[in-house]
Amino acid sequence: MAASVVQCHVTGRKWTMAASSIALVFAALVLCLCDGQYEAEPVPLVIWHGMGDSCCNPFSMGAVKKMVERQIPGIYVLSLRIGNSITEDMKNSFFLNVNEQVDFVCKELALNSLLQNGYNSMGFSQGGQFLRAVAQRCPSPRMKNLISIGGQHQGVYGFPRCPGEISKICDQIRKVLNFGAYTRYVQEHLVQAEYWHDPLNEDEYRNSSIFLADINQEKQLNNSYKNNIQLLEKFVMVKFLNDTMVDPPDTEWFGFYQSGQSSKTVTLQESTLYTDDRLGLREMDKAGKLVFIGVEGDHLQFNEEWFTKNIIPFLL
Ligand SMILES: *[C@@H]1O[C@H](CO)[C@@H](O)[C@H](O)[C@H]1NC(C)=O
Ligand SMILES: *[C@@H]1O[C@H](CO)[C@@H](O)[C@H](O)[C@H]1NC(C)=O
Ligand SMILES: *[C@@H]1O[C@H](CO)[C@@H](O)[C@H](O)[C@H]1NC(C)=O
Repeated sequence: MAASVVQCHVTGRKWTMAASSIALVFAALVLCLCDGQYEAEPVPLVIWHGMGDSCCNPFSMGAVKKMVERQIPGIYVLSLRIGNSITEDMKNSFFLNVNEQVDFVCKELALNSLLQNGYNSMGFSQGGQFLRAVAQRCPSPRMKNLISIGGQHQGVYGFPRCPGEISKICDQIRKVLNFGAYTRYVQEHLVQAEYWHDPLNEDEYRNSSIFLADINQEKQLNNSYKNNIQLLEKFVMVKFLNDTMVDPPDTEWFGFYQSGQSSKTVTLQESTLYTDDRLGLREMDKAGKLVFIGVEGDHLQFNEEWFTKNIIPFLL
């Protein structure tokens, strides 16, 4: 399985290179004939998968990659693999400190010659907030559009269900989170604890969350986070309106439970993060850079027709 995926990838690249040299000849021709009107190369796309998934699962990220490649001929799509194998990649989505994962990805993107003119990015579920961390911490190469598909930008407070056949791991994680999500050991070893947001203990969250509270400017103000996220052209947030896996689903549009309780929610626009504009999101909103998309269905449930209509335009 792994070998065939790698082979596919390599062949794809060769094809792209051959195609681009032909395109170059055509472009030169068209340039003479049509006074400079020619199609630019498609912007590359970087994908970050969700929890329990991997770069190359043919039924998830593999299929998404193929769909994008089919719809945007010649595009270079990099589906991130965190670790040395697909199995490691999947395990790391539970157990590798997110700050280390983000560092790893930043280095990989910086070294990839195909991304140096900029790229779009698309994160699925927790991959959405992880790519936002990449945008905020690593401005080079330049991320153009960030598309978050069911990402949890204000974290989660509950772990109602897990995708796929991994319910045993899921039960374990739920126990650990309830026992001590904010203890130092758990923070450093459990990915989901790093975006655990307890609205009844905001102080503890602020003090102890080593990932989410940091990128959301809850600990200290890091001006480079604000400057860097504002380099985005668009920040697209897709929310699954009937999500039963993410608690609360509002987090997919950067909303969350109102501080001090766990039933009433507030929108991004009602939050102090927005009104104080600690992360620059209000300014981005006023500039039309924030895009909120709602889709009927459960977590990550969408079809190609919806994707083509709603997401492909941001990848062109
Ligand atoms: C702010 O973020 C940048 C980019 O990640 C980092 O290099 C820097 O150390 C951070 N500054 C503070 C005060 O944490
Ligand atoms: C959070 O940190 C502040 C400042 O260090 C401290 O005063 C406060 O007691 C801490 N709160 C919790 C719940 O850890
Ligand atoms: C999904 O949620 C939306 C918004 O809350 C609601 O209007 C719709 O009826 C729900 N659909 C299903 C199938 O439950």
